[in-house]
Formats: sequence, structure tokens, C-alpha cells
Amino acid sequence: MRMMRTSFLAHSQDHHWRYSSLSPSPRRPVIAGNWKMYKTLADTEAFFAALGPHLSGVTQCDIVIAPPFTALRRAAELANEIGIAVSAQDLHWEREGAFTGAISAGMIRDAGCRHTLIGHSERRQLFGETDESVNKKIRAALLAGLGPIVCIGETLAEREGGQTEAVLERQLTQGLSGLTEDEFSPIMIAYEPVWAIGTGRTATPEIAQQAHAYIRQGIGRLVSDGAAEKARILYGGSVKPDNIRGLMAQPDLDGALVGGASLDANSFAAIIRYERSEAQ
Ligand code: PGA
Repeated sequence: MRMMRTSFLAHSQDHHWRYSSLSPSPRRPVIAGNWKMYKTLADTEAFFAALGPHLSGVTQCDIVIAPPFTALRRAAELANEIGIAVSAQDLHWEREGAFTGAISAGMIRDAGCRHTLIGHSERRQLFGETDESVNKKIRAALLAGLGPIVCIGETLAEREGGQTEAVLERQLTQGLSGLTEDEFSPIMIAYEPVWAIGTGRTATPEIAQQAHAYIRQGIGRLVSDGAAEKARILYGGSVKPDNIRGLMAQPDLDGALVGGASLDANSFAAIIRYERSEAQ
């Protein structure tokens, strides 16, 4: 099995838009909600009760909810009833041991989850997450049968300093280091520019598309052309019902990771339903 190549920046020009012309997209869209540190068990039950009726007939996209650890088990049961998946928001890379406060991939799987977020910018900025720990967490998640949703993205200072592509390259190259093509296949990437998260300041569809095309090209260089074509790259950062349409019209955007607007079942459903009308 082919190993990841170590750098793609040197070849960045020749294939920059190579994967942008794919039409129709071979990738199934995914709408994921990240609840962050919100919702009790009672809130979780109320959310699923409200979301369920909105989903009847929705079959054209994958739907994932990432509740806090305390609600995972119940959310997984409720999600199963309405045919959607549950994700954790983080994990520890060790299988078990003396790691007070930590949760392993196996425990998350045992709670009924199919995915886990890894490397969210809040974990990177507030909890010391590094590209190295992201890599270890990806390996742990894969071993336990969880599909990683790996978050990358630049800060405002990095964008303004012209560092966006270098940051994305570093996060991808180090985060995905040493993974084979098979290992990469269940991984989704979420491009989340830090300046757009929780700020109401969404990236324009053009800015998002440019970053997504760059990321897809990077996957082509690091893994394989086939992996790049199949990789689902989600956009995150102030996604709302009124801006999802423009974002999803971009050829390299395969879905969204939604924070604030995923807390309310109606607004989350409006984002999902946009997908439905677009796909039919
Ligand atoms: P937001 O959060 O939609 O509230 O900006 C997105 C995220 O952090 O995943």
C-alpha cells in the first residue's frame, strides 16, 4: 500500500483546479452538527423529537450530530431510530489507562458513535491540540472503527499574513502523516477558517471553494488521485440556512459542519432540506 507523500506544495500550481471540474459530484453530501458544550440529556431528547419529522423522505445526504460526551449514548439510540449518525467531538489516542478525564475511541464506539471530530480549532486553540496529536487520534479512531472528521483551517492573522495555504499544507501533511490510502478512505476533512467560526462571518463561497480545491489537490498529492476525487470536504464556519445554498453550489464543497445553527432542530433541518431540494 502506498504511503502518504510528504509534501504537495511544490506541485501546487499544475493541478490546482484539477478536481474542480467534476460534474456531477461523485461524492455523497454530508451535513454534520457540532453541538460543542451545549445540551443536557433532556435537551438532546427534545432535539431529536423535533428533528425526526423533518427528515422523512430525506435520503440524499448523510446526517451526523456531535453531542457532548454525556449525551452520546442516548443520542446514538435516538439517531438510529431516524437513520442518522452520531459523532464524538474529541477523543484520547490511548486505548485505556490512567488518563483522568479522557475518553478513548473504543468507549466512543461502545456508546454507539460512528464518527469523531478531531482537531477542531477550539481544541487546537484552547486545549493544546497539535498536528501530532491529531495524527495519533486519527490512528486511534480508525483502529476502533470510527470515521474521523478532521478539522483544519487558518486563523485571521494567518490569512491576512498570506499563510493560508502553508497552514493547510502543514495541518494536512502532519495530521495525515503515514496513513495508507485504505486508512485515509473513511476520513472526512472539515475546512473551518477560524475567523469564520462563531463569528457570523462566513467565508464567501469563492474563498471556501479556493481552499477546498487546494485541500483536494493536497489529498491527491499526499494520498492518491482516487482518494482526492472521493474525499468529502466539509465547510464549517457560521453556516446558516440562508448561506448554505451558495456554499453548496461550489464544486469542491461536499457538505457542512454546522455549530450554532445545529443547536436548533428547525434551523438544522432547514440546512439539510436545502440539500434535498438541490439534489432532486
Ligand atoms: P459555527 O461553528 O457554525 O457556530 O461557526 C462551526 C464549528 O465550530 O464547527
